[in-house]
Amino acid sequence: MHKILVTGANGQLGRAIKRLFGEKYSLLLCDLPEMDITSLTACRNAVREFQPDIIINAAAYTNVERAEDEPDAVFAVNAVGAHNLALACRESDAKLIHISTDYIFDGSRGTPYGEYDSPNPMSIYGKSKLWSENLIRDICDRFFIVRTSWLYGDGHNFVRTMLRLAEERSEVTIVADQHGTPTYAGDLAAFLKQLMHTEYYGIYHATNAGSCTWYDFACQIFACAGRTTAVQPIKTEAYPVKARRPLYSVLDNKMLRLRGFAPLRSWQEALAEYIKNGLK
Ligand SMILES: NC(=O)c1ccc[n+]([C@@H]2O[C@H](COP(=O)([O-])OP(=O)(O)OC[C@H]3O[C@@H](n4cnc5c(N)ncnc54)[C@H](OP(=O)(O)O)[C@@H]3O)[C@@H](O)[C@H]2O)c1
Repeated sequence: MHKILVTGANGQLGRAIKRLFGEKYSLLLCDLPEMDITSLTACRNAVREFQPDIIINAAAYTNVERAEDEPDAVFAVNAVGAHNLALACRESDAKLIHISTDYIFDGSRGTPYGEYDSPNPMSIYGKSKLWSENLIRDICDRFFIVRTSWLYGDGHNFVRTMLRLAEERSEVTIVADQHGTPTYAGDLAAFLKQLMHTEYYGIYHATNAGSCTWYDFACQIFACAGRTTAVQPIKTEAYPVKARRPLYSVLDNKMLRLRGFAPLRSWQEALAEYIKNGLK
């Protein structure tokens, strides 16, 4: 039975992994406060005791806005934490699966990004995730870096925010000039489950199929949930935020395709099932 250590196990992806991987694997599910990935000792101890075959790092500092105000805290989790896990992996010869983001790209090109395209993050969060990738690439031989986007699952996310707002108001205003791909955490977990058994190490883009704007996403959420909430489109500059987001960060899942994995289903199909199943 494969032994898998999952960090950030109480997050959206962590919960999806817990649900999907079930009894077929021996899982060690870790999260704060018991296991803080910013501590190399904590990472080493967990790995030495459990001796996992695979480590999945689903832990991260994911609040993109707040990240602008506390860069050291962000880099401590996203970069130093990933570094610690990479060091522990190298010592134990475990495979490492690390999750990264579309926000490592600047989104200025307006066409989907391949794994080979040059990153240029514009936010502290994006910079910390890119640095995490570099640290892992420097240290590990047996790693998978999986970049995903606009993730939702069992946790705080855009879908839940929209449905909460629909309870409170009859109209919402949503940014309509940022393009990306909503991705269901359960579908990402299912892909990781296939990928982790292979030796096809390297960088992958893994998102649901298709693309949309946040405005389109909100409209589809309300349609799926049977809400009549009106959605007003606005431009990015009309919604002042601290963190700059890419205007177009659609990820071409090229390596996933070329390595013979089935593409993830469309974002609309995944969203419909998520809402039907009670936002889990
Ligand atoms: N959410 C998105 O839209 C999105 C998009 C692209 C990529 N990603 C990436 O996908 C991965 C999974 O994201 P997610 O949405 O599942 O994240 P999430 O729901 O925010 O979960 C992250 C988990 O990590 C934990 N954590 C934070 N600091 C930690 C530390 N020092 N040590 C151990 N655990 C710690 C968090 O605990 P607390 O809640 O207590 O802080 C939380 O349980 C992350 O790598 C993220 O960067 C996410």
